[in-house]
Amino acid sequence: MMAVPGPVAARAAELREAIERANYDYYVLDAPTLPDAEYDRLFRELQELERRHPALATPDSPTLRIGVTPVTEFAQVAHATPMLSLGNAFGDAEVEAFDRRVREGLDAKVDVHYAVEPKFDGLAISLTYERGVFVQGATRGDGQVGEDVTANLRTVRAIPLRLRGGPAPGLLEVRGEVFMLKRDFQTLNREQRDAGGKEFANPRNAAAGSLRQLDSRVTASRRLTFCSYGLGRYSGGHVPRDRHSRQLDHLGKLGFPVSAQRRVVSGLTGLLAYYRDIERQRAELPFEIDGVVYKVDDLHWQERLGYVSRAPRFALAHKFAAEEEITQVLGIDVQVGRTGALTPVARLAPVFVGGATVTNATLHNEDEIRRKDVRIGDSVIVRRAGDVIPEVVSVVRERRPAGARPFQLPQACPVCGSRVERVEDEAIARCTAGLYCPAQRKQALLHFASRRALDIEGLGEKLVDQLVDQGRVKTPADLYRLDLETLSNLERMGEKSAANLLAAIDKSRSTTLERFIFALGIRNVGESTARDLARQFGGIDALMQADEAALQTVPDVGPVVAASIAGFFGEPRNCKVVQELRKLGVRWVEGKAKGFAGLPLAGKTFVLTGTLARMTREAAAERIVAQGGKVSGSVSKKTHYLVAGADPGGKLDKARALGVAILDENALARLLEQKARA
Ligand code: IVH
Repeated sequence: MMAVPGPVAARAAELREAIERANYDYYVLDAPTLPDAEYDRLFRELQELERRHPALATPDSPTLRIGVTPVTEFAQVAHATPMLSLGNAFGDAEVEAFDRRVREGLDAKVDVHYAVEPKFDGLAISLTYERGVFVQGATRGDGQVGEDVTANLRTVRAIPLRLRGGPAPGLLEVRGEVFMLKRDFQTLNREQRDAGGKEFANPRNAAAGSLRQLDSRVTASRRLTFCSYGLGRYSGGHVPRDRHSRQLDHLGKLGFPVSAQRRVVSGLTGLLAYYRDIERQRAELPFEIDGVVYKVDDLHWQERLGYVSRAPRFALAHKFAAEEEITQVLGIDVQVGRTGALTPVARLAPVFVGGATVTNATLHNEDEIRRKDVRIGDSVIVRRAGDVIPEVVSVVRERRPAGARPFQLPQACPVCGSRVERVEDEAIARCTAGLYCPAQRKQALLHFASRRALDIEGLGEKLVDQLVDQGRVKTPADLYRLDLETLSNLERMGEKSAANLLAAIDKSRSTTLERFIFALGIRNVGESTARDLARQFGGIDALMQADEAALQTVPDVGPVVAASIAGFFGEPRNCKVVQELRKLGVRWVEGKAKGFAGLPLAGKTFVLTGTLARMTREAAAERIVAQGGKVSGSVSKKTHYLVAGADPGGKLDKARALGVAILDENALARLLEQKARA
């Protein structure tokens, strides 16, 4: 092979180091240091050098991260130390028994220290490093023999291609989990859907499908990530040999991601408190977990406890209640929402999932039912995660009974019998009766009374049902005509709670214009549009008289929103309700039409992401809005600034890709102060 000139080899080494440093900062530390454009330049320069000098190729070159020529099958890899599984516990009693066995096994008189961390819901892999260089990566397989997926794992940016810091061990086997972040899973499924490809049922299936690709270039396009949780064989280097937690710290120093949620806790109480803590955080974590893992921290004790069959006696997986279960669709009901939207809901054979018994799950809309091909009688996978409404994920086709019946959305509203209309290009079918439909009336009242609208404390679903069903309340105005006697005669209403409710209704009379506009429940008018409308028009009369052209002078009010506002106030019944409410004492301070032009942040759109240290995101949003700016939930070409706090999500990537200006918290504070003074 041709010799590579010294300066060229030196430049290649320099480029590799800079690129991998940037990968590490970005994917492991989550603290980007290199602008994308610069990264791309360095990457292309290295690719070009390697193309011109093939002898430069090394197994740890970042150019391998974009994938290589496909293979026809995976080679088998025998694990030098077997990849074990863990015993499971589903309740506190089993954890207690585990801790007791551990203490008995060790003759321990005091509480045992445990290293604890989340149980990632991905795939176990083993990574081998020789003299600091990643040389082989394998799946778990049956624990003894796995598949060689080295080329695929090189594309995972969170996996170091070369160890960092200090003298490298001669041999190091690192164990951990490959998984996909929730947001990357959503993006992938969206892309698959748009391309007419197959969607994945959950992030774990997506990660498995992506890792087991014969073409590593496909894996490279899939945004997998990795977290290490232990060691296999090792020799040389300064690997700690006393405690598991110290080995994890060491892995961190070598450049591996280790769980930010890892801790060392003491005794059974420590274990259970940790479980509760992680369970509370579960929904907010950017990745899926299915429980927590407990390991005796002292490595000598681990050795003494040893193994039963293929699981260690020193470790335990404490699992959460499954978030997905299989059950049967007994029927499909249709619910009518505030805007008349018809939502099909599956009635299910009761099933315990995500920690609660579920008997209903949303099917979203007609298209979703068709896409998932859900039929009455089908067995389906139901998902309930955190406080999210349970949903039907997919049908288990193999179990479809002969008589399974397809479902047809009714042509008439199931509540009031009025015509149902489906606007072309919209997935939602709607009842056309508006507030004449009792279902819509109930939802409209609940919305009117909700916390962010007129905030009538204590006016919940049960009461609204009764008030509407008895014909006592038809419009929000009727709420202000209720008296103590009517209220105390309702079911489950004592004199005391009736008086409280009356007081809450009275209190709600004093409000703000923006809350009032929001409370009206005009379709397409959320809180932020309501705020803009209040600012632009200053008073309700001006708003009611505004035509579509005038409405469209408000930032972000386009033809669709303008049409729904004009349509709402074009309906004499709605105007009458507004006038009645004012007569009944609902009031706010009317201001002058302020408009937006004069405000310092007028016309600027912000997106907030990550955790801010000095204020909540809500507080930051309020300050931006107060200065005329807009706060949006997602980054687009129209975004002017992305404000990124700690642990920013995919929004940061997107903002970078679109060249949106990125502010940290301090920069935002400066901007707000500057503008406030100006
Ligand atoms: S420790 C001796 N820690 O759980 C076994 N495993 O049921 C060492 N897993 O195959 C495993 N997160 O894929 C450990 N923080 C964690 C884990 C974890 C997920 C998986 C792993 C393993 C399975 C065992």
